[in-house]
Amino acid sequence: MSDGREGAVTAAPLFAGGNEGSEPRWWQRGVIYQVYPRSFQDSNGDGVGDLPGILRRLEYLKWLGADAVWISPFYPSPMRDFGYDVTDHEAVDKAFGSIVDFDAVVREAHARGIRVILDFIPNHTSNRHPWFLESRLSREAPRRDWYIWRDAAPGGGPPNNWRSAFGGSAWEWDSHTRQYYLHTFLREQPDLNWRNPAVERAMHHVVRFWLDRGADGLRVDAVQKVIKDHLFRDDPPNPAYVEGSDDPYDALLHEHSSDQPEIHDVIERMRAVVDGYGGDRVMIGEIYNEVERIVAYYGRDGRGVHFPYNFQLIKLPWDARVIDAAIRRYESLLPPGAWPNWVLGNHDRARVASRVGPAQARVAAMLLLTLRGTPTLYYGDELGMRNVDIPPERVQDPWEKNLPGRGLGRDPVRTPMQWDGSRNAGFSDVEPWLPLSRDCSRVNVRAQERDPTSMLTLHRALLALRRREPALSMGDWAPVQAEESVLAFTRSHGGTRFLVALNMGPEPASLRVGGPGTVELGTLPGSEGQPVDRTLRLRGDEGVIVRLA
Ligand code: GLC
Repeated sequence: MSDGREGAVTAAPLFAGGNEGSEPRWWQRGVIYQVYPRSFQDSNGDGVGDLPGILRRLEYLKWLGADAVWISPFYPSPMRDFGYDVTDHEAVDKAFGSIVDFDAVVREAHARGIRVILDFIPNHTSNRHPWFLESRLSREAPRRDWYIWRDAAPGGGPPNNWRSAFGGSAWEWDSHTRQYYLHTFLREQPDLNWRNPAVERAMHHVVRFWLDRGADGLRVDAVQKVIKDHLFRDDPPNPAYVEGSDDPYDALLHEHSSDQPEIHDVIERMRAVVDGYGGDRVMIGEIYNEVERIVAYYGRDGRGVHFPYNFQLIKLPWDARVIDAAIRRYESLLPPGAWPNWVLGNHDRARVASRVGPAQARVAAMLLLTLRGTPTLYYGDELGMRNVDIPPERVQDPWEKNLPGRGLGRDPVRTPMQWDGSRNAGFSDVEPWLPLSRDCSRVNVRAQERDPTSMLTLHRALLALRRREPALSMGDWAPVQAEESVLAFTRSHGGTRFLVALNMGPEPASLRVGGPGTVELGTLPGSEGQPVDRTLRLRGDEGVIVRLA
């Protein structure tokens, strides 16, 4: 590596912090922590986490510095897709507790200044939902049109070539009524027909049900799938698809089965329901797509979701130049006034510590918590939890069961939270539903909470700094010219300016800095309080936040 990689801090911020002149919303300033409820804390000794477990751990979330908790689904469900197959959108599954427990979580979270965001699953229900049971009774059933039923193709077989995200055709034959129904996900997850106004009304009722009970927001599941082409045209083949190595779902471009123009009308009407609660509730969309497509979900004049999840840090290669270009591009594509966001991990994708390795996971944490936009942190990532190998006999995820051995299964990222060094890591008194990581006696909250060099301590310090310094939450962002393995940018607000410099490689590197400053926080020991003058020298895998004078 050469010594010639130098850059200078650009003087003028290119992109403004947003919301000029008005108070930032809590979801702009704050950090969201995602809890996968089956795996956070078991309170009743069945090996599955639950709402009373979350209640017990709210103090931890407050200590950590989270502003909001997004809880993945806890509604009654046969658990074919672990809660994303719902039989009653307005209740709590017994495995997770009761509605009384939910109310307690909201009350106690609010008492600690923590907001509660729920998963809202509009695209489909369980095939055991009473609506679907009625729909499949006969072709004349009053609720027939609540789901998407089609005749077989003229020569027989499914109505078109659409695929299920979890493998195979998206169509399932119903021998009783002799038609196919559509399921974008499992055959046990039939798609609702959002072109039917009665379905929309029923689902708006669900939104109101939870907002009335005090939920602060919704993460809207698979929202781009909700409306399909009304002509049911075939999806075209994907020329970039590599048979055998890529996910078979990607063999087609989902031109007609996903991301249809009418989805924006559906979202606008959903958003109007949410805005009916006074403008302080948040609506977040889950959309996996190209960045240009994703930013369209801010909607016309900002009437779409408050933000569509931005999964670029999950998907892109961990390379300073690639990430730098992606941040600049994303910032430049955001519509005026749109609020950005960043995600490093979730219950569907590999753990960040496994993707980038433990050394870079610290750098990644600093990146997530210093970029402009709301960060979402996945439970356990603050400890550096890694993907856990799941023995074949313990596989739970239907995706892995349908398409074994391709690395699609999500169990490895859903293993129990590692609280302490006791049996079952303090998660449960009994064997948990998924195996614990082998490193749990070492990698856990208890072991890390007082260790000044731990991943948990780094997260707490980053969260505290972000909370203290408006420059890091609401401040302007500007890219800084850097080379090779270094990614750098500034955040500024009022008279305060920070330089964030991240060495995304294992070799030492340097960056020319436009003025003197002091290291405020570093990912490696020993840098804090160090003065910085013209040249910032970074050790391998080191990230620093420099307060510029
Ligand atoms: C979303 C969820 C995923 C679920 C799917 C179907 O992508 O994040 O876990 O399986 O939707 O609901």
